[in-house]
Amino acid sequence: MTEVSARHVSQSYGDNKVLENVNLDVGDKEFCAMFGASGCGKSTFLRILLSQEQPKGGEVFIDGEPIASEPGRDRGVVFQRYSVFSHLSVIENLILATEFDQAPMFGRLFGQKRKKAMESVEHMLEDVGLTAARNNYPMELSGGMQQRLAIAQALLRKPKILLLDEPFGALDPGTRANMHEILLKLWRDTSMTVFMVTHDLEEGFKLGTRLVVFDKTRWDPDFPNAYGATIVHDVSLDQSAESAEVKARIRDQLSQSQTRRPREEKDDEAN
Ligand SMILES: Nc1ncnc2c1ncn2[C@@H]1O[C@H](COP(=O)(O)OP(=O)(O)OP(=O)(O)O)[C@@H](O)[C@H]1O
Ligand SMILES: [Mg+2]
Repeated sequence: MTEVSARHVSQSYGDNKVLENVNLDVGDKEFCAMFGASGCGKSTFLRILLSQEQPKGGEVFIDGEPIASEPGRDRGVVFQRYSVFSHLSVIENLILATEFDQAPMFGRLFGQKRKKAMESVEHMLEDVGLTAARNNYPMELSGGMQQRLAIAQALLRKPKILLLDEPFGALDPGTRANMHEILLKLWRDTSMTVFMVTHDLEEGFKLGTRLVVFDKTRWDPDFPNAYGATIVHDVSLDQSAESAEVKARIRDQLSQSQTRRPREEKDDEAN
């Protein structure tokens, strides 16, 4: 069972208020797609869920317990930008992911365990289409290939909570569709709870069981950083029969986002 709850979470950097009063309960095996204008705090929220940073206010609970203060193996992540080891080849990066996961005390696997681990690495290589590049180093890969390697690495660890920050943004449509299938299969086969930031509404609807949208609800044109974003839409896709209507509502919210609203536009309105 993996349930994640955010209670009154807020975050700020200096006087830049980024998040305020974020409340979210995500149940076991949910796939939570997260939307919001650029700069509204989505990556910040994921970093808090990973314990890479602590919120200024509020708390996060996993299965009712306060979240560990350090990132742990229960939470896997694929960052917005590529995050693989540059001094290791494709295959070495993947072997490292399984070794860390299965033999954290020893760092290396032997015998049958190693054989099984190697099999899952080979499968994953094939799934993400990197078999031919197995001996290449990250600098020799395209951006999309590096991102597929990062995704493969995170999935091999089979975390309880998978945090994905725009993981497919750099991929072409065909590869993206492949990666969707791989992710959906792994998500169904495991008991992972997934949080995925995306700017692609269709992708969110295809993969998510739950859609949340972040935005500011208050806005001071003279001090754009005075208020943080919070969750303004929270829709469970299982319950919403009218997905076209939900899509339209979310699209509307994103296009009118207070977060990136230019100052002049606000001034025009006041006149
Ligand atoms: N470590 C930091 N120090 C200072 N400011 C930060 C830090 N991290 C994020 N910010 C600020 O917090 C705000 C939210 O950033 P964040 O990266 O969470 O946005 P985002 O919603 O992920 O945007 P995007 O869609 O462009 O990735 C921005 O104003 C950013 O400048
Ligand atoms: Mg981001």
